[in-house]
Amino acid sequence: MQAFTITESDGVLALAAQSVEPSPRDPDDVLVRVEFSGVNYKDAMVASPHSRVRRVSSLVGGVDAAGVIESSTVPELPEGTRVAVHGGDLGVARDGGFAQYVYAPRRFISPLPEALSTRDAMIIGTAGVSAMASVLALEDHGLDHEGEVLVTGSTGGVGSLAVTILAARGYRVVASTGSDHLTDWLLERGAARVIKRDQVGDRPDRVLGTEQWRGAVDCVGGETLNQVLRCLRYGGAVAASGLVASAELATTVYPFITRGVALLGIDVVEAPASTRQRVWTSLAETLSSTTLEPLVDSVVNLAHLAQAIDALRDGKTRGRILVDPAAG
Ligand SMILES: NC(=O)c1ccc[n+]([C@@H]2O[C@H](COP(=O)([O-])OP(=O)(O)OC[C@H]3O[C@@H](n4cnc5c(N)ncnc54)[C@H](OP(=O)(O)O)[C@@H]3O)[C@@H](O)[C@H]2O)c1
Repeated sequence: MQAFTITESDGVLALAAQSVEPSPRDPDDVLVRVEFSGVNYKDAMVASPHSRVRRVSSLVGGVDAAGVIESSTVPELPEGTRVAVHGGDLGVARDGGFAQYVYAPRRFISPLPEALSTRDAMIIGTAGVSAMASVLALEDHGLDHEGEVLVTGSTGGVGSLAVTILAARGYRVVASTGSDHLTDWLLERGAARVIKRDQVGDRPDRVLGTEQWRGAVDCVGGETLNQVLRCLRYGGAVAASGLVASAELATTVYPFITRGVALLGIDVVEAPASTRQRVWTSLAETLSSTTLEPLVDSVVNLAHLAQAIDALRDGKTRGRILVDPAAG
């Protein structure tokens, strides 16, 4: 089969589309014929020299994929089932979804709801699963429709899906972005208004900013997350899933002890099957091909994947890059 390999040898990184034989790690691994994969921020981290995310020196990249089960010994996952594959060490320490076939253990595999095609599933991808998990966490915490919900990094994968999901669920969404030229695109995705990255917080002379955000979805981390916390309304919450700006968080306890706000951690990589199923069901209820298709930045084949990863790393993309491993 054709696959996109990432190999580091003596400190030299090589990215290549080439022929590779798929092989299971465990006897009961399920073989999936990949129809689409997608490019996530984590893929860019894995495909970087001296990556601290990648845990092996050579592998097929791709932290997620969607396709059809080709062969399986797992009774609840019979051949022909349409599935999404993501999580665990897929594309990080074992061969991932940038290939025509991928072997995965049962716990990484989610059967797709009838309403979602495999293409829809990879427009969503790990980024969209994280966005939906963030929205569900906020709703479980009591998010209501009284006030504005902030989304940071809003033109990226997690951010653009979060804007689309929140708008579809009737929330008034404020999108924060460093990509001013994509303001109209964000308004078309359902944002009620768009602000610049440095407008997330205010009143730098005070410990706390103005109470602005009823809730927030943050995949940026660092100082952005600090500003979100400073400006959440009383009893509000932020769902934090990412670190594109920084993994560091310098803040104070004042938002927590004087406004009762909550910092909700989001992880979909090790999430149990019950959580994944709830998230995919909610995605199918909330989104459709009509709302998903405008999120496609581009569709690339394996030969053009390296340039696509560079573009995402350089912040030159919007929404989601799809990978079609069968395309010539
Ligand atoms: N916890 C989990 O289970 C989970 C799952 C999926 C993803 N993630 C994490 O979520 C994050 C986003 O992933 P993604 O795939 O959505 O990435 P992405 O498509 O590259 O989007 C990230 C966005 O963040 C903004 N951004 C980039 N650099 C920034 C900076 N230095 N300061 C502030 N904003 C910046 C940009 O949006 P604007 O130009 O619009 O500001 C960019 O489009 C990553 O850290 C990823 O690892 C976590």
